[in-house]
Amino acid sequence: MAGQSGPKEGEARYPRVESGIPGFDELVDGGFHQGTVNTVTGGSGTGKTVFASQFIYHGLIKGEKTMIITPSESSASLKRDLNSSFGWDLWKYEKEELLAVVDVTDPVLRLQKSIDVDTVEFLINFRKLVSRKVSEEKPKRVFIDDLMAFFTAVETPFKMRSLADDLFGPLRAEGVTSVVTIGTTFGMNEILEYGADSCTILDRIRIGNNLVRSIYVMKMRGSKISNSIRILDISDEGMAVSTLQPYP
Ligand SMILES: Nc1ncnc2c1ncn2[C@@H]1O[C@H](COP(=O)(O)OP(=O)(O)OP(=O)(O)O)[C@@H](O)[C@H]1O
Ligand SMILES: [Mg+2]
Repeated sequence: MAGQSGPKEGEARYPRVESGIPGFDELVDGGFHQGTVNTVTGGSGTGKTVFASQFIYHGLIKGEKTMIITPSESSASLKRDLNSSFGWDLWKYEKEELLAVVDVTDPVLRLQKSIDVDTVEFLINFRKLVSRKVSEEKPKRVFIDDLMAFFTAVETPFKMRSLADDLFGPLRAEGVTSVVTIGTTFGMNEILEYGADSCTILDRIRIGNNLVRSIYVMKMRGSKISNSIRILDISDEGMAVSTLQPYP
């Protein structure tokens, strides 16, 4: 539904979308721009999935339609992990049809990823699936976890960049606000980040004998951002950006 949101021609300011992560919106001058694609990048276990899930959960609590697309991890384990970590009941919202979960590993979707399938063909089909599901369900918030799982087999940075643009374009056109997680294991994350409207970086920093979680915003097109690195907390209540900084 192209007219649902996002900036209209001649409209100077984007409407903002609350991230649902306490402390995050002030780093980006009030939240994500509506109708944009926002990446959350980090190494394994840095909190990417928790960040994006909390973005979705915040929408659900406000009664918004949301969608989770999971290429790498099956959706069943994602829901179970979030319930066990934070007590969030995604099953309830799914039953109420506020949450649509697209599990790409579901054989019904016939989008099996295997070494026998041509990567480009697979990604084109994935893009079609995402476009179709988003225009059918008309969610306000979309979460794709983890995009890098798809793109690692793409041979050239040029192809990777254009395939990412092909995926991000329809999401913007539908006016949904998306959070896409990107793992850094294969070092190709920057190519996907180029095509995104905002990029947030999660990490773990060693201070003495402790590991401290950290977060900063690398870019947000059309917006002021804070240049400060902050401590990121994860507790039974979920994720929150602290006012504290990890370095003295
Ligand atoms: N209730 C909780 N309190 C504190 N920490 C928690 C809690 N629940 C989960 N965590 C931690 O949150 C961390 C972040 O996990 P998350 O799955 O978001 O990372 P990720 O970056 O998506 O990792 P992966 O690369 O495996 O996908 C986990 O290491 C887990 O230990
Ligand atoms: Mg994850």
